Amino acid sequence: MTKQKPLSDMPDASKQDLLDEVRQKILAANITPDLAAQAQNLVMGDGNPNADIIFIGEAPGKNEDELGLPFVGAAGKFLNEMLAAAGMDRSDVYITNIVKYRPPNNRDPLPEEKQAFWPYLARQLEIIDPKAIVTLGRHSMEFFLPDAKISEVHGHAVRKHVRYHDNTEHEWLIVPLYHPAAALYNGGLRQTLIDDFLNVPEVIKKL
Ligand code: URA
Repeated sequence: MTKQKPLSDMPDASKQDLLDEVRQKILAANITPDLAAQAQNLVMGDGNPNADIIFIGEAPGKNEDELGLPFVGAAGKFLNEMLAAAGMDRSDVYITNIVKYRPPNNRDPLPEEKQAFWPYLARQLEIIDPKAIVTLGRHSMEFFLPDAKISEVHGHAVRKHVRYHDNTEHEWLIVPLYHPAAALYNGGLRQTLIDDFLNVPEVIKKL
């Protein structure tokens, strides 16, 4: 039997083909088997693989697990509203999470779970090659800005060299924002997030 050529070696593979390959690799490598055993779906991402902006959240919740799509619950509704207020919708951006299976009872993802998914997130970034990475909350911010405090850096864009497991480096433009779920029911934080969010296109343009 001939071995199937990896999609990434095919010159005409689309970004979606390559993202599908990442999904297959996560399944084949049995990443975070404890989470996988309890989850209904592996939640890879949603939106446009050719987008200039990628949003990275924390991990799927109940609704996301059921539908297999990121940010489709209350936090997702808030995210959609902010996108609309900024003149965009989900098909203009790409949305994903660090951890791609729902943690039981929506607990915080464990450091080892985030580490396990990081190479796959790094590969998603390489494929999509966005102009800017918007992190939502501290779990995704810490991969790019490990020493930053969200209360000090939210809404500001920074260029940052990120080192990968194979020791290659990539410079990304990072805009850290508060997590929509944290801001949803907190009046002050909610307005801060909305203001930061509406500013994202301007902040990106400036750099
Ligand atoms: N919160 C996240 O961080 N991601 C989701 O997909 C949904 C809620």
